[in-house]
Order: sequence, then structure tokens, then C-alpha cells
Amino acid sequence: MKIKVKVSRFDPDKSPERYFSEYELEVSEGMTVLDGLIWLKENADPTISFRYSCRMGVCGSCAMMINSYPHLACHTQILEITKSVLVLEPLCNHANVRDLICDFSAFFEKHRTIKPHLLREDAEKLDLTGEISQTPQELESYLQFSYCIKCGICVAACPTCATDKEYLGPQALAQAYRYTQDSRDAGGDKRIEAAAEGHGIHHCHYAGACSEACPKGVDPAFAIQLFRKQMVLRSLGLKETRPPAGEMPPMTLNPKPNIPKPPEPTIK
Ligand code: SF4
Ligand code: FES
Repeated sequence: MKIKVKVSRFDPDKSPERYFSEYELEVSEGMTVLDGLIWLKENADPTISFRYSCRMGVCGSCAMMINSYPHLACHTQILEITKSVLVLEPLCNHANVRDLICDFSAFFEKHRTIKPHLLREDAEKLDLTGEISQTPQELESYLQFSYCIKCGICVAACPTCATDKEYLGPQALAQAYRYTQDSRDAGGDKRIEAAAEGHGIHHCHYAGACSEACPKGVDPAFAIQLFRKQMVLRSLGLKETRPPAGEMPPMTLNPKPNIPKPPEPTIK
């Protein structure tokens, strides 16, 4: 089946205006938007610019607007979206630098604000070669939120991000909750401070668009609500601050493992 593909073009060195280039593409069952773009670049127009790496929904670099909705291009089959016209544009709410490519510096700067790593006072005393204990329930409480691949789709879908460029955004806020909830972390207060000030967590209107669009099922809207609850409980003194999980005793290997001897060969 042949379809029309409209690709948004932008080259700030040549013109400040964006425009569309149109191509014809032969689409087959299972062909992804990224497959189609790669075919067009190799066979129709080598100047189309877009980002990709893993081709399997892991690196998060191929996110773009596909028929006006943010998706991963490698994770979206063309025939599931359209049988006539495919319109490809750069992600909304991110600065467009070339064709389908966006500048993610502001996105990662916001991510850094919430300190996306384990924080604890005793870090220097810890034996970093050892393990820190964590129960399956403790892991479960943040695991879903750790699946974020930093694709920026939630930010593209968020109506608050569309109107407030300073807003921390669903990705950073969900990660603030993810690390605060981790039993190995003791930086909850610092992260609450970072998430609450300025254009932070209280600017979320709970539209839920981030969770609907997220390709990894992270559910940032849910994380934001849980984080808000945690902030309120802490401010009322109702949330006990727990000490961060301690180190496990070093594992010792049995010097003489009890491995049964193999049977004698029948033919010597
Ligand atoms: S929360 Fe989901 S949509 Fe947002 S950056 Fe992470 S993986 Fe992408
Ligand atoms: S190319 Fe890595 S997520 Fe699409």
C-alpha cells in the first residue's frame, strides 16, 4: 500500500520558517515509522534529519509527533496509525533544532534539579563494593517509575508544559518520587524542596496526559500524586522518616562447594 508522508523540515541556518516536505512511501505490514523514515532517507531524500539509536523502544531518542500525538517512531507501526497520510513533526514543548530533532538540554537540566541519584550522608563510609539490602516490597514501591527512558514524550503531551516553560514537568517530578521512595535513599527532604519551589509540583493540573502518552507505562501522573501525598504527610509530621537501608554483610563463597562427582565414564 502506498501512503503520503509529510515531514516537518527546519534548518535555522537557511530559514527561520518551518515547512513540510512530502514523499510517497510503500508500506508493508509491521513497518514502523522509523523504518519508513530510514527508507526515505536512504532512497528519497538524504537530508531528512531525525534521531534514533536502539530501534527497540529502549533509548528514547526517536520520539516525535506522529499524526499530532507523541510516540516513539521505532515502536509505532504505520498501518496502526494511518492508511493514507502520515504527518511527522518534532516533539511539542521541546526546542526544535533541525527537522524532527529537538534540543533536550532544558529537559535534562530539569531532571538534574531533582537530584536523580541516591543521596545519603554516610555515602563515604559505605563499602561501595558491597550490597545494600532491599525487600521485594521496597523495590516494588518505586520499580515502575524507574522504567523511564527519558524520551520526553510525557513533556510533549503535558498541557502545563505547553504553557509554562519553567515547569519542572512530569518526567523530572516522577523521578523525584522514584528516588525519594527508594529505601536506599535519604535525600527526600532535599528533593521535596527542589520539587516544591518555583514552577514545581504544585503547577501540575493533573490532566493525566503524560501517563496516557508514556510508552513505558511509567505513569508520571500517579507518581506526582503519590509525591504530593508524601509531601503533605511530611509537612504535617505524619510521615516517619526512615533511616536509609544498611549494607548487607559481605557474601562469602563456600571454599569447598558440595558438588556431586560426575559418574565414571562407561568407556575408558
Ligand atoms: S516518564 Fe515515560 S514518557 Fe516521560 S520521559 Fe519517561 S518514559 Fe518517556
Ligand atoms: S530508537 Fe531507541 S527508542 Fe526508538
